[in-house]
Amino acid sequence: MIWQRKHLLDIESLTTEEIYTVLDTARAFKAVGERAIKKTPALRGKTVVNLFIEPSTRTRISFELAAMRLSADVINFTAEASSLKKGETLKDTARNLEALNADIIVMRHSASGAPHFLSRVVNSHIVNAGDGAHEHPTQALLDTFTIREKKGRIEGLNVTILGDILYSRVARSNIRALTKLGARVTLCGPSTLVPRVFEEMGCRVTYDVDEAIESADVINLLRIQHERQRKSMFPSIGEYTTLFGLNNTRFARTRPDALIMHPGPINRGVEINSEIADCGRSVILEQVTNGLAVRMAVLFLISGGVTSEAVISNQ
Ligand code: CP
Repeated sequence: MIWQRKHLLDIESLTTEEIYTVLDTARAFKAVGERAIKKTPALRGKTVVNLFIEPSTRTRISFELAAMRLSADVINFTAEASSLKKGETLKDTARNLEALNADIIVMRHSASGAPHFLSRVVNSHIVNAGDGAHEHPTQALLDTFTIREKKGRIEGLNVTILGDILYSRVARSNIRALTKLGARVTLCGPSTLVPRVFEEMGCRVTYDVDEAIESADVINLLRIQHERQRKSMFPSIGEYTTLFGLNNTRFARTRPDALIMHPGPINRGVEINSEIADCGRSVILEQVTNGLAVRMAVLFLISGGVTSEAVISNQ
């Protein structure tokens, strides 16, 4: 297919064909990353600005590396050291970045919809790197890429997402991507963090953790998003771990080939036992590796890259 989108704002608006185009393009970029010379000239002469107004390790660094691998110039904007601190608005900040010829702005913000707003007020390409509890599209793309790479398909798989669903942009983007690609998605966690309204997104909701994980092909664990919760959603972290944490007893009940995933950052000993996070079935660090290829694919496609064959021949 010919990629038409100027921005990547969410998974909700993507078609199944567009999701597969990103995954296929990422596969080509992953192959390029395994060569001796890992750079391609696809974005030579372009400028990518990482505008992160919320903390990030994986997403920011992999977008930075992705842009560098594509031969773009990269600027890392640090909110704490910027004129946002002096009262400059987000719109004025972005327009100033554009005045400095920012072709692509990769943005993380605590407010849901902030990247959508920016896409309406500047001419640069906008990539959503996580907006509040709304969406984190590249996380869902790298998660589906990882599942497809490991399992060979997405369609028909049982994927359980366990943890704080209510405040999770990762959950919302994953639910949208996985259901579009034909997976059966089960959500589990405390009832205060997994309201039944999520069933309207085409998922199953259960509060029985053993039942949720026993038949899962993939178990994706989410941390508690304390920074977004305005009140206490459960009695204590200890109680959460006892009732919903993936411990050795629960792990023993999972399928022997079930993948263990986590978008990071992990709270070891809370949502996942430390040994399980590092076990042979954990693909947590492979998710991070795949994030680089997926983010290269996204930057390449939105800036007018055509096919994955072009990726290879550019080398
Ligand atoms: N998964 C994820 O978004 O991690 P960071 O917050 O470190 O980018």
